[in-house]
Amino acid sequence: MPSSLPRPVAGLPIRRLTPDDLVACADLCEDRGWPRDEHRWRLLLTAGIGYGVDDPEGKGLMASCVVTTYGSRLTAIGMLLVAERYARQGVARQLMNHVIAACADVPVSLYATAAGQPLYEQLGFSAVGRSQRVTGFFRPTDESPDGVHVRPATAEDLHAMVRLDSDVFGADRTHLLARLPAYADHIRVARTEGELIGYAAAWPSEQTHVVGPLIARDTATARALVSSLAEATDRPLRADIDARHTGLLEWFEKCGLRLGSTTTVMTLGASDLPGDWTRRHAPLTVATG
Ligand SMILES: CC(C)(COP(=O)(O)OP(=O)(O)OC[C@H]1O[C@@H](n2cnc3c(N)ncnc32)[C@H](O)[C@@H]1OP(=O)(O)O)[C@@H](O)C(=O)NCCC(=O)NCCS
Repeated sequence: MPSSLPRPVAGLPIRRLTPDDLVACADLCEDRGWPRDEHRWRLLLTAGIGYGVDDPEGKGLMASCVVTTYGSRLTAIGMLLVAERYARQGVARQLMNHVIAACADVPVSLYATAAGQPLYEQLGFSAVGRSQRVTGFFRPTDESPDGVHVRPATAEDLHAMVRLDSDVFGADRTHLLARLPAYADHIRVARTEGELIGYAAAWPSEQTHVVGPLIARDTATARALVSSLAEATDRPLRADIDARHTGLLEWFEKCGLRLGSTTTVMTLGASDLPGDWTRRHAPLTVATG
């Protein structure tokens, strides 16, 4: 990715964010009513590239954005935030223009909130899907997990996880998955006849555990993975499920989770996401695509 920093955003330079900016990034999230998620920021700023604009009044950051690259297949943009006090002054537009230019010709994807979507449309992004958030305490249902063998992941599973993930995600995510054991509190794998058919992780965000990635051969396997993760935590669960997985969403509701906000999956430079959506149930985080 070419680095042409600094360039002006509302007359101010865009700079690279580093792990030293974690608190300022978390403050920006809080300003917009998002979880502070310093833990997630650490992952994003080490596995990806963060861009930020300093507040000229010395109050931390005016804006942020994170870019995660997957070779020449895909670049994901996330965590586009502009402090409320600088809203509607063109800051997000200029930051996005800068980041898109840095992505060269690589297809770009993102999960758009209702506030972000009009800007992305103006920048040429197209809606290609929808993600449905579910949250709440998980109550196991009577239904059995259909005989799929699920257990905690071990170091020996990592190679098979990366191979399966690469096939399903459509691009190599070794740089993220290598960090998953430190990032997630719980990781589960699903196997049948010795073959890995799915895996899932639960990572902490404020008082919840977020389920993601959730990669599974079918809905039954996804359910078995989520049930196993839920057994490991007393916290409410949260997940952003591809809205096409209607059976899984119905099951989440039966298990006590509520449907929350939706985000629109958008791409630029590609007509769809790569990979196999039928086995891709939830992203690691919406910020990494
Ligand atoms: C979305 C967000 C980043 C926009 O930042 P911003 O600097 O205010 O946006 P800009 O001033 O560059 O606006 C560009 C265009 O986007 C659209 N837009 C911006 N904010 C909008 C909002 N809240 N609702 C609807 N459209 C909006 C408008 O078309 C706007 O152009 P206009 O002001 O000339 O009409 C900011 O509102 C924010 O941080 N929101 C909370 C976090 C979030 O949802 N981020 C997006 C993640 S996908």
